[in-house]
Amino acid sequence: MSTLKNTNTNSVEEAAVHLYEALNRQVATWSVLYTKLHHFHWYVKGPHFFRLHAKFEELYDEAAGHLDTIAERLLAIGGRPAATMAEYLQLSIVREAEGQPSAEEMVATVVSDLKLVASDLATGMESAESAGDPSTADILNGMRESVDKHIWMLNAFLGK
Ligand SMILES: [Fe+2]
Repeated sequence: MSTLKNTNTNSVEEAAVHLYEALNRQVATWSVLYTKLHHFHWYVKGPHFFRLHAKFEELYDEAAGHLDTIAERLLAIGGRPAATMAEYLQLSIVREAEGQPSAEEMVATVVSDLKLVASDLATGMESAESAGDPSTADILNGMRESVDKHIWMLNAFLGK
């Protein structure tokens, strides 16, 4: 009986740790995306400059909101959000901008990054459900909905 109880306690703690890790992956990823989207906002060139300059700004504003929402949710449920650039680069599932991509390559990169984010949000939702935390799952689900919409729109821009 006591063994079973210990096992349950351990699995509850493990579920919480998995959720903290999932949320910190999101914190780190949105932070790297925040910088990457500024990079694209500043360096985009060509006939779509005005459209994409504004779109990348909309996206980095949204990234900043997600970053703060998830970090504060982590604090509310007893976790500790990553809060240094070094941690963000280590934990992020997307890479920083590099080279001199064309406008279309920038959009394609954002689409591919957001697909990774969408998949990771789904993993985070599963971790939240396993940890008995439907409120966090709801937060991640709302972000997933928005990310999916951006993926559709950016793909439409690319003619896909
Ligand atoms: Fe600006």
